[in-house]
Amino acid sequence: MTVFSNLSFDDHEQVVFCQDKASGLKAIIAVHNTNLGPAVGGCRMWNYESDEDAVNDVLRLSRGMTYKNALAGLTMGGGKSVIIADKNNVDREKLFKAFGRAVHQLSGKYYSAEDVGVSTTDIMIALQETPYMAGLEGKSGDPSPFTALGTYLGIKAAVKHQKGLDSLKGLKISVQGVGHVGYCLCRHLHDEGAELIVTDINQDNLNRVKQDFNAVVVAPEDIYKQDVDIYAPCALGATINDQTLPQLKATIVAGCANNQLAEARHGERLKEMGILFAPDYVINAGGIINVSFEQDYDVKKATTKVEKIYDTLLEIFVKSDEQNRTTNVIADEMAREIIEAAAK
Ligand SMILES: NC(=O)c1ccc[n+]([C@@H]2O[C@H](COP(=O)([O-])OP(=O)(O)OC[C@H]3O[C@@H](n4cnc5c(N)ncnc54)[C@H](O)[C@@H]3O)[C@@H](O)[C@H]2O)c1
Repeated sequence: MTVFSNLSFDDHEQVVFCQDKASGLKAIIAVHNTNLGPAVGGCRMWNYESDEDAVNDVLRLSRGMTYKNALAGLTMGGGKSVIIADKNNVDREKLFKAFGRAVHQLSGKYYSAEDVGVSTTDIMIALQETPYMAGLEGKSGDPSPFTALGTYLGIKAAVKHQKGLDSLKGLKISVQGVGHVGYCLCRHLHDEGAELIVTDINQDNLNRVKQDFNAVVVAPEDIYKQDVDIYAPCALGATINDQTLPQLKATIVAGCANNQLAEARHGERLKEMGILFAPDYVINAGGIINVSFEQDYDVKKATTKVEKIYDTLLEIFVKSDEQNRTTNVIADEMAREIIEAAAK
């Protein structure tokens, strides 16, 4: 396996492989860039098929955090961690204490928080071993509702830009993944009168949105071909790819999942197809924005900053039209300008 020449490595400052046999911890911590401040990004626990998959995932997610934090106007760098494990088959107490010790060895260069497969309870366990944890219970707490708020406002920005509408009433929206963020997002969309078509691989999560928001449930493989206005990917990454693109009927792709494009060229393809793409790390920054208010937590200040996602996305959409370039390339350029300015 190559690391330095891996495309996703992309100038990472540090990548740490951690193992603790007693707890079964196998983790990778990636610190992409600290120009703007200590790297902050969640920890994902996933049963990866291979170590290579885990490396690729953490590198892509970590780089995304640098860009996300920069464009959200935060004084935080980008990093991420993954734990390679089956979340249903671990001793969480032992595992997250070992994870906390691993994070502590970076002496504050990286702060962790919850992500897929990890809860705020796990983060509180890790906190026993290190102060370098964020999104804490009793402080900024679970970032998911703020990620959902930002995603909802991002969907509204896309609808405003493409259709000139201020409301989502009557629009059809497919949501892939109705977990922590997806569920809260469905609530916002339902409250505004959108019609929901959802899928998930977790039946309990599906039952909840079906019951609470009158959502229509479809099989996971059928979500892409739904006749909807908006497709909101809210599960894992890379769902915009060569197989799914030809199936899409939506004219907007806007959801909270990280790394939605399997490759950058899929952003080009979306543009050619006339599909407006809300770059993932811009639309899903609500949670990390909330976390950035952790010290002296103030929900009003956090919410006001999350609401700026609407304006940032509109700016990206307008630039994309003016320059006839993809929204993901425009967002990357805007983020890089901020990161490079900080280096100077
Ligand atoms: N939690 C946050 O604040 C936050 C912030 C930024 C980005 N994100 C991203 O948003 C996404 C969702 O995060 P979350 O915290 O809601 O995670 P979660 O684990 O709570 O929810 C993910 C849901 O997707 C479902 N899922 C997994 N594979 C699926 C598949 N193939 N088809 C359909 N459903 C599938 C899971 O069963 C689960 O219900 C992730 O990509 C995450 O990285 C989350």
